[in-house]
This record gives sequence, structure tokens and C-alpha cells, in this order.
Amino acid sequence: MKRIVFLTGAGISAESGITTFRDSGGLWEQYPVMQVASIQGYEADPELVIRFYNERRRQLHDVRPNEAHRLVAELEQHYDVTVVTQNVDDLHERAGSSHIIHLHGELMKATSTLSPNDPSQLVTLTPEQPDIHIGDRARDGSQLRPFIVWFGEPVPMIEPAAEAVQQADILVVVGTSLNVYPAAGLIHYASARCSTYLIDPAPAHLDPSMRVHVIQKTASEGMKELCQLLG
Ligand code: OAD
Repeated sequence: MKRIVFLTGAGISAESGITTFRDSGGLWEQYPVMQVASIQGYEADPELVIRFYNERRRQLHDVRPNEAHRLVAELEQHYDVTVVTQNVDDLHERAGSSHIIHLHGELMKATSTLSPNDPSQLVTLTPEQPDIHIGDRARDGSQLRPFIVWFGEPVPMIEPAAEAVQQADILVVVGTSLNVYPAAGLIHYASARCSTYLIDPAPAHLDPSMRVHVIQKTASEGMKELCQLLG
């Protein structure tokens, strides 16, 4: 089976009603990014940051995967599919994708403030009890925090993601401004034989030497076109 890797960003969830970060009206216009999405912001005001992610988590309850998430999952019938996502929502899971690498963490999980990347500290939150509170303790006794990779923190999943991209026959980048590293650098791991596509209504500018097939459409329309092209 041919291997497809999807590298997805906030744009794939836009049609589900989740706000992107850098588009006009995006999340980082409403909230100072370094206040709510950096380790320094969390250390300065953990309550504000925990509340910000509690709100994002509650919002997940009201949204559904869209056609783009579903088509990514359906391609598993014909391809070996890996989804590398920068998104912290669970819409790829809910659409049925089975191999997902979350580069920036997962909203529905919480972890320890002391050892955020220790798998034994991870707990899964539920739609019934979605909130983290000040005073909630991780297994190691430290304050429970959102399982989000903040600016200023390492990105442990970058290595398995880079390996997946290296082995890909087809790389499809969907709905990301490619502004945030190391995620944005993943495209450079694609081999010479890999065909690369970029689906985005306002696609990031990529070096023409990369020979990227740009599909300038929304995620759902672009995924339909991709499926036709793949046959
Ligand atoms: P951005 O908000 O930077 O970029 C969103 C991209 O989605 C843009 O290229 C838009 O053109 C595109 N877009 C908008 N609507 C779309 C639609 N309907 N269909 C397809 N694409 C659409 O979001 P990301 O690139 O995902 O990290 O941001 C990367 C990281 O920056 C996030 O994971 C987050 C943020 O800070 C952390 O918080 C650690």
C-alpha cells in the first residue's frame, strides 16, 4: 500500500467552526499568544491559561468533524495513512482516522506541571468533566495542566512525524500557515520521489523548487479534488 502523510493545521477544522489562529478574526487577535500559549504565560498566570483551555475544550463538545476529516479517514481503505496534526482538537479521531500524531498536544488530555511529557502522568478528560481546576493534582502531586505543547517547550513528537514524512509516497499539507516551527520544517523531510500537495484557500508561499501541487480551496473542497486526482 502506498503511504500518505497528511500534515494538518487549524484550517482543516475551520469548517467545523473552530477558529484558526492567524487569519483575520483568529484566536491570536483575541488573546495575546504569549499569555495563553507559552510556558512563561502559564508560569505567570496558571489560572488564566487553564481557563483558556477549559473554554477551548468545552467548545469541542459543540463541533463535529467535517467532510475533510472524513475523507482523510476514508483514504485508509486504499492507503497507509498517517495524520500528523498541529491541532489539539480530536476531530481526526472522531472522523475515524487510526494513526494520528499530535505535534502540539491534545485538548482532551491533562498532564503534570513537573513532567508534562511523561506518558505515565497523562490523564484523559471527559465531556462530562472537561475542566481542569487550580488544585487538581497530577499523579506526581504537581498541579494538573493542559496537555498542550506551548511556545518555549520541546516538541517530542517531531521525530516520529519526521520519520513518517521521510517514508511518504504522498504528502498532503492541509490548512496550515506553516508559520510555526519545527512543524513547518517537516515538509523538507519529504523524499525526492514523494508527491506533495498543499490544500489551503490562502496557501503559504513555498519554494517553486519543491514542486508542490497547490489546490487553492477550502479543506473539504480541496480534499474532494485530491481524492479525484488520486483516483
Ligand atoms: P494558522 O491560523 O496559522 O493558519 C491557518 C491556515 O488555515 C491558513 O493558512 C488559512 O489560510 C487556512 N484556512 C482558513 N480557512 C480554511 C479552510 N476552510 N480550509 C482550509 N484551510 C483554511 O494555523 P496553524 O498553521 O495550524 O500552536 O497554526 C500552527 C500553530 O500555531 C498551532 O498549532 C498553534 C498556533 O500557535 C500552538 O498553540 C502551540
